[in-house]
Amino acid sequence: MPNDLFSSGPDMLNMSYEEVKAAALKCAKCDLHKTRNKVVFGSGPVPCDIMLIGEAPGADEDEQGEPFVGRAGQLLTQILLSVDIKRPDDIYIANTLKCRPPDNRAPLPDEQSACWPFLEAQIKHVKPRIILLAGAPAVKAVLKSQEPISKLRGKWTKLPGTDISVMPIFHPSYLLRNAQKTKGSPKWLTWQDMKEVRGALDYFKKLRELDNG
Ligand code: URA
Ligand code: URA
Repeated sequence: MPNDLFSSGPDMLNMSYEEVKAAALKCAKCDLHKTRNKVVFGSGPVPCDIMLIGEAPGADEDEQGEPFVGRAGQLLTQILLSVDIKRPDDIYIANTLKCRPPDNRAPLPDEQSACWPFLEAQIKHVKPRIILLAGAPAVKAVLKSQEPISKLRGKWTKLPGTDISVMPIFHPSYLLRNAQKTKGSPKWLTWQDMKEVRGALDYFKKLRELDNG
């Protein structure tokens, strides 16, 4: 993988996955460590063809130490399952922040910067072919883009400096607040996006089979 994505310096990037995780679990680089209960590092297979990056842990995640286990997480599980992506075996899931912001406020730029080396190291170890960015804060942290998610969702782009295919999608919390399924609605659009993602995953799987055959 080209080096230009990996800007955090050799320290974190030379660590093993387990070392990176251990560093995150005792991290005190921003004030969120004072109010967190558990660090939510992320979970799933390493390596894995597909990775999803959300915003930050909520109350349930902070309590359990696992990403996307609350109401939004349950919807996410269903959305993924609708295209036969099963948790926890088929997808690696992480967030831009590993600690819960008080009252679920939006991540601050300084917090996202402090936490970025962990996410970068996760991407390095997971080696995904596809990254789904759930919601605007994930788009902002990873693509450094301020474009509204409604404009970016469903469109493939590459992670700068890499060959990793990236697709922004609506955040499941947004879908919980917009539950209609009519044509053109956020849920309907997400369903189109997920079918597209399924197609890409199948394509990468086929390529691997050809390589191995
Ligand atoms: N919302 C997120 O963005 N991430 C989680 O882990 C849970 C809810
Ligand atoms: N606004 C957000 O922050 N996220 C969405 O997914 C949609 C609108």
